[in-house]
Amino acid sequence: MCIAKLRLLLKTVLYCRQCAKLVLIKEKSTEEILDEFHQISTTIAECEQNLETAIGDAYNWLKTLQDSYEEANGEIKDFRTKINNIFDELEKKTINSLDDMYDTIKKSIQLELETCSRIQDEFKRFKDVHKIKENPSNELVFVAYQTSLDNISQAKIILKEMAVNANPTISFENNPDFEQSLIRFSSIGNFKREVKQLKKSTNELIKCSNKVLYNVRVPSDSRKCDIRSICELPKREILILDYANSRVKLLNKQYKVVSHADLPESPYDMCSISPSEVAITITDGQKGTVKFLSVNNGQIVTGRTFSFEHKCHGIAHAEGHLYIASCTELYQYTMDCTLVKKIYEDSSDNCSGMFEF
Ligand SMILES: *[C@@H]1O[C@H](CO)[C@@H](O)[C@H](O)[C@H]1NC(C)=O
Ligand SMILES: *[C@@H]1O[C@H](CO)[C@@H](O)[C@H](O)[C@H]1NC(C)=O
Repeated sequence: MCIAKLRLLLKTVLYCRQCAKLVLIKEKSTEEILDEFHQISTTIAECEQNLETAIGDAYNWLKTLQDSYEEANGEIKDFRTKINNIFDELEKKTINSLDDMYDTIKKSIQLELETCSRIQDEFKRFKDVHKIKENPSNELVFVAYQTSLDNISQAKIILKEMAVNANPTISFENNPDFEQSLIRFSSIGNFKREVKQLKKSTNELIKCSNKVLYNVRVPSDSRKCDIRSICELPKREILILDYANSRVKLLNKQYKVVSHADLPESPYDMCSISPSEVAITITDGQKGTVKFLSVNNGQIVTGRTFSFEHKCHGIAHAEGHLYIASCTELYQYTMDCTLVKKIYEDSSDNCSGMFEF
C-alpha cells in the first residue's frame, strides 16, 4: 500500500470516529436544538467569565512578576554592597599589615643610622682630644684608648648587622587561592521560581502557634499605641498603623520600630498594593482620604493622596482594583481612584458592619 493511500484510510477512520454520534439535523426537534443552543450559550458565558478573570489575573501576575524582578534586582545590589564591604575590610586589613611591616623596617634602619652617627661623633671627639692636648696625661690617654676600642667593636657589630639587612624592600604576593575560588563561581546567587497559591481553601483552620509582645512605642508618641492594621513587606519588614498617635510605623525583621511617618488624622485601615507599596485610609468628618506610601531603604516615603466625598474606613486591593468601605457603602475604584461603581449600600445601619472585608 502506498503512503498516500494509507493516509487516506487513516483520515477516513478518524472521520468516522468523530462522526459516530452524529445525528442528522433534520432528525432533531426545534426544541432540542434550542435547548442545546441555550446550554452552549451558558457554557460560553461561563467560559467567557473565566477567561476574563484569567486575563485579569494574568495582568496582575505580570505586575507581581515585575515587582518580584525589581525586588530580586535590589537584593542582588544589596548583596553586592555586602560583598564590597567585606572586600573593603579585607583590603584595609592587608594595608594595615603592610603599614606594620613598613614601619618596623623603617624604624630599624633609622636606629642603625643613629648608631652609626653616634659612633662617628665618638671618633671625632677622640681625634679632638689628640689635637687639643699636645701633651695629654696618661690617664686621659688611657680613657680615650679604652673608649675608642669599645666604639670600634660597636662599629664593627653595627656594620655587620647592616650588611646582613642591606637595602630592604617590600613586595606584595597576592593569595592565589583567593582569586581562584572567586573565578570558580558563575554567579553570586541563584533564583527560585515560586508559584504563590492565591486562592486558599476557605475551610482552612488558622491556629495561633506563638505570641510575643514587642514595644512599638516611639519617644514622641503622646498616647497609648492603638494598632489598627498591619502589612508585611518583602525582606520581612512590617508596617503598622497607630490610630491613637496618627502614625504609620515601620518595623524591621526584629520587630523594632526603625522609622515612622505622621499622618494628618487617625488612620483606619491599610492594604498592600505591591511588595513595597501600601494604601491607607483616613477619615476626617464626612470626607475621606487614601494615601499611598512606599518603603525604600528602611524609610517611609509618602506617595499620591486621593480625596473622597465619603468616609474611608476599610480598604482592600484585589485584581487591579481598590475596594473602599465607608460606614455604610462599599465602592470599587480603579488604582488611580476613579469610581467604577458603588457595590453595596446599607442605609439602615450606622457604621457598624461595613468596616472590614
Ligand atoms: C663608645 O664607648 C663608650 C665607652 O664604652 C660608651 O660609653 C659609648 O656609648 C660608646 N659610643 C657609642 C656611640 O656606642
Ligand atoms: C447607631 O449608633 C448608635 C451609637 O453608636 C447606636 O446606639 C445605635 O443603636 C445605632 N443604630 C443602628 C441602627 O445600628
